[in-house]
Amino acid sequence: AIRARVEDLLSRMTLDEKAGQLTQYFAFDLPPGEAAVGDLPQKPGEVDDALASGGAGSLLFVNDAARTNRLQRQAVDGSRHGIPVLFGYDVIHGLRTILPVPIALAASWDPETIERGQAVAAREARAVGIHWTFAPMVDIARDPRWGRIVEGAGEDPYLGSAVAAAQVRGFQGGRIGTPERVIAGPKHFAGYGAAIGGRDYDEVDLSDQQLRNVYLPPFKAAVDAGAGNIMTAYMPLNGVPATANAWLLKDVLRDEWGFDGFLVSDANAVRNLVTHGYAADLPDAAVRAVEVGLDLEMAISDPAYAHLPEAVESGAVSIEAVDACVRRILEVKVRLGLFEEPYVDEDRAAAVLADPAHRQVAREAAQRSAVLLRNDGRLLPLDPDALGSVAVIGPLADSKRDTLGPWVFDDDLDETVTILDGLRARLGDTTDVRYAPGVRPAQRTFPSMFEMFPGNATPDPEDFDDEAELARAVELARTSDVAVLVVGEWQGMIGEAASRSSLELPGRQLELLQAVAATGTPVVLLVMNGRPLDLRWAAQHVPAILDVWYPGTQGGTAVADLLVGDVAPGGKLPFTWPRTVGQVPMIYSHTTSFEPQNQGRRYWDEESTPLFPFGFGLGYGEFTYSDLRLDAETIPLDGSLTASVTVTNAGQHDGDEVVQLYVHQRHGSAARPVRELKGFQRIHLAAGESRTVELTIGPDELRYWSAAARGFVVDATTFDVGIGGDSTVPLTASFTTTA
Ligand code: IFM
Repeated sequence: AIRARVEDLLSRMTLDEKAGQLTQYFAFDLPPGEAAVGDLPQKPGEVDDALASGGAGSLLFVNDAARTNRLQRQAVDGSRHGIPVLFGYDVIHGLRTILPVPIALAASWDPETIERGQAVAAREARAVGIHWTFAPMVDIARDPRWGRIVEGAGEDPYLGSAVAAAQVRGFQGGRIGTPERVIAGPKHFAGYGAAIGGRDYDEVDLSDQQLRNVYLPPFKAAVDAGAGNIMTAYMPLNGVPATANAWLLKDVLRDEWGFDGFLVSDANAVRNLVTHGYAADLPDAAVRAVEVGLDLEMAISDPAYAHLPEAVESGAVSIEAVDACVRRILEVKVRLGLFEEPYVDEDRAAAVLADPAHRQVAREAAQRSAVLLRNDGRLLPLDPDALGSVAVIGPLADSKRDTLGPWVFDDDLDETVTILDGLRARLGDTTDVRYAPGVRPAQRTFPSMFEMFPGNATPDPEDFDDEAELARAVELARTSDVAVLVVGEWQGMIGEAASRSSLELPGRQLELLQAVAATGTPVVLLVMNGRPLDLRWAAQHVPAILDVWYPGTQGGTAVADLLVGDVAPGGKLPFTWPRTVGQVPMIYSHTTSFEPQNQGRRYWDEESTPLFPFGFGLGYGEFTYSDLRLDAETIPLDGSLTASVTVTNAGQHDGDEVVQLYVHQRHGSAARPVRELKGFQRIHLAAGESRTVELTIGPDELRYWSAAARGFVVDATTFDVGIGGDSTVPLTASFTTTA
């Protein structure tokens, strides 16, 4: 029935209407008379005209029910065939209820928390008429200068794949059309995170083995989890723009992986095929994108796909290629049930957005993503009964916008709980909670790309007396029992088009930290970030460091829960934390050419080790590992075995531990990394409790792409295995694989 309906429509559509279905416009809510948001221009009336002529298959950037309904009505009532619009949006970590940023969710190492969180995001989005999210971003990021590291799951393909699949399950909930869910659109296919120099949009050149072993697995996991859409990347991959890359989009994605969803370009990426020096002009760009099955062009203005009718008429592209794309778009609309139910109930939307259960999910997600990096002398958890006064210091401690993090446009800031709010609510009855910003809020060299959106700019206060404010904060710390200092990056410094050439704390935050620490008052350092920052001084001099990321709507509540020990931090780093920007890229799963003792120092002027290793994170409990066992010494190439270990919480405090399994292949048809993550499980252990954890190793874990074999192999070889609480665990067990 679906097919018949699609074919019937297709048979009645003109070429212009077909091109229209393959076009997605930004539908900015522009003030009357304006035709641009920042430097994104749009011709006045362009979207309205397109809707009336059936010339807009999809719209993006609409996030309220009244507007989706109004625009939908224009499409359904105003155009010849009444084909409903598909609404897409960047629902990256929530719509109204904002979850911690994706890198934080990954730091939970907890697929269930991630799935539950993105299901809430989907429910809110679908309620206001959004059908599809441009998420998850599953790009592996190994260079923290790249600002979009905040939107992904970090450096590791195994963790990245688990997180990608959990997000797809959360957003989409199964087949396209599942009630209260949206289509998941993993992005940016593929290799976008490997931009040279960490510069956003810059070129990417990756060997097959890097692509197959590192960058593609999270996409494959997302496709296997049923993702209905994929967004292509902006940049050229190995010389061919990803948006028109036949090898990537046809050979790998469709033929090898069997992906049968629809493809969308990134914004203006079809037009940019001309900028790349790849397509001759806009008609050629449209032809080359359609030829590789790029179904939908995301356009700000003047889409290249408007040239498709002339290209078909001149024979530059076949009508079959165009129809194949139109079919996929129409099919999605039928599957979503949009022809029967194009509108949403605005009252219901308001109720869904206000659902308190969503805030609870966000609170738990923020609790579970925090990573405790240092806790000298067990300064944490704080005892609320013994605290007369707390100095809360730093502008990020009381900034709602920064608490939410990047990619947030639904501007209900009122209910966002900052760290200051959270501590006041939790401690205020018994403890004197005082606040001083200490330094001015937004320290930046250039305005952020997202400042063009109303309300998204952090104003630089005019009457801020730098010296007086610094002194006031230090005095507050000196006269308090504990100083809770919040440092990090202002949210506009991270995300799209927000690469940095330095990892230093921006502005005078280090100076503030040093001055506060010099008072002798114990300091709890909270870090708000989406990338590793240069914390070398803090890691030596500050007793407690808790990474809270950009923790979302309920961030302040969750941070207070953690600081007083109502819950214990149990997150782990999803990336290697370098000491300095000069060490990047730095990953735990590198290969090696020398024995460690002969390797010498990698840098003449810096340690070879990171500041904190991948997988690292402390708890309030104390976790010890014993009795590592493998249930087989030898397995066939397609066989599996179970590794088990006993984990004990030998501390005084209940808490979570992420049990991690690492594997090293001793020899084979290619040189393999010194170790790779191949299993993990987050568990809760009461103080004094022990548990045996079992993790399976099989062909999926042992297979890799071998450049020598030009394909995937499982070698007959020996593997070393270790299980522990971070990526430095000794590999003390071993097994062999035999042909
Ligand atoms: O979804 C995003 C993409 O990640 C980067 N460019 C703009 C798109 C739409 O906002």
